[in-house]
Amino acid sequence: GHYGLMDAAEAAGILLAPPTEREPDAAYAALHAHGPILQVSAPLYLVSGYAAVDRALRDPAMETFDAAQLEVAWPGWREYRAVALFADSMLRANPPHHTRQRRLASGVFTARRVAALRAVVAEQVDVLLGELTAYGNGVDLVGRLAYPLPIAVITALLGVPVEDRGKFRRLAEALTGVLEMHWTEADRVRADAAADELIEYFGHLVELRRAQPADDLVTALAAAHDADGERLTADELLANLALLLVAGFETTTNLIGNAVVLLLDHPAYADKLRDDAELATAYVEEVLRIDSPVQLTTRRVARAAEVGGVTVPAGAELVLLLGAANRDPDRFAKPDVFDPDRAGVSPLSFGAGAHYCLGAPLARMEAQVALPALLRRFPDLALAERPKRRARMNLRGWRELPVTLTR
Ligand code: HEM
Repeated sequence: GHYGLMDAAEAAGILLAPPTEREPDAAYAALHAHGPILQVSAPLYLVSGYAAVDRALRDPAMETFDAAQLEVAWPGWREYRAVALFADSMLRANPPHHTRQRRLASGVFTARRVAALRAVVAEQVDVLLGELTAYGNGVDLVGRLAYPLPIAVITALLGVPVEDRGKFRRLAEALTGVLEMHWTEADRVRADAAADELIEYFGHLVELRRAQPADDLVTALAAAHDADGERLTADELLANLALLLVAGFETTTNLIGNAVVLLLDHPAYADKLRDDAELATAYVEEVLRIDSPVQLTTRRVARAAEVGGVTVPAGAELVLLLGAANRDPDRFAKPDVFDPDRAGVSPLSFGAGAHYCLGAPLARMEAQVALPALLRRFPDLALAERPKRRARMNLRGWRELPVTLTR
């Protein structure tokens, strides 16, 4: 609709306002027309250019908002127990703490462990697809596939007993609100209660696994130490377990949901993917680019630096618009066109640099396994009605995905 009619300030207003169901495309296009970076206020900048976002993510002068910075920016933040929980995780740590936490976590969250999960994912997909028909011809694919799959996979990986999966879905959903820029008092109360419950749960599970080790991530992370004998503190251990749960859940749900809608909107491509599951790799990269499940992240400028041709001062706050960077016309020809045959996509959907998503290989694998399997099982799969977005700014996905399985 409004392409060309909106100016950059208006775009910033839309992006920073409480979220609605609207698509951000027109606002992103307006930002690109303005340039790679836009100053919104004295401390605040929106960064939309691909090269600028990529460089900022890799620049050691840019720090994540850690406990010390939260203390300055938001006195009283520790009362928000859901925020405080993640403050001890690697996502909210800068060097040297980040380096140590990340090294310990990568040491147990290995490519081998992810590869070994492929069979678990395939089996779960099979079970979930088999169950779909039990609900009749019309089902919600978010509720019946895109939600339960990542929860099953992450709980299996962590070593959470199957009977506790339902609880985890509820807790993860309540905590995910913290990743948004706007949340209500009700969201906060729910998230804080979930944080308490999760800490207690993981505290208990860690004790169990210390007494009786199992082949799972809780056991491995609790025992992790590197050559210098460095370990995670008790708080860091719980924070990172909670982070793995929350970071790996709704994001992957949205990747799968977004991918299904793009497939159903491009039936010729769906036919190709059904015949050749190898195409799933390229397909998932293009979905990540054009409909990024995570639309933004933030950084604080620790030392004055150059971003997109502008000098940003120490203390400035950057909103790095990953979703906009993925639509940068200077980086991608016809950025708003879905084209899985593009070469060298490299979307910024998983971030870049030191905090690059630890779970990227797992999320990719889940989508690469689930989508061709879905198409093969239900060749006549179709949207039953136009789905609606969740009213969110950062975690982009469909609220429900009503489909018919057969004609
Ligand atoms: C970090 C996106 C799935 C675990 C990140 C970041 C992004 C991201 C953008 C960087 C944040 C920043 O730099 O500020 C996504 C997307 C996913 C996904 C789009 C799904 C499509 C997962 C999964 C897991 C996971 C499945 C784990 C099981 C993490 C962790 C970090 C992270 C632990 C923090 C890394 C660090 O701070 O060093 N993710 N993620 N993510 N993600 Fe993911």
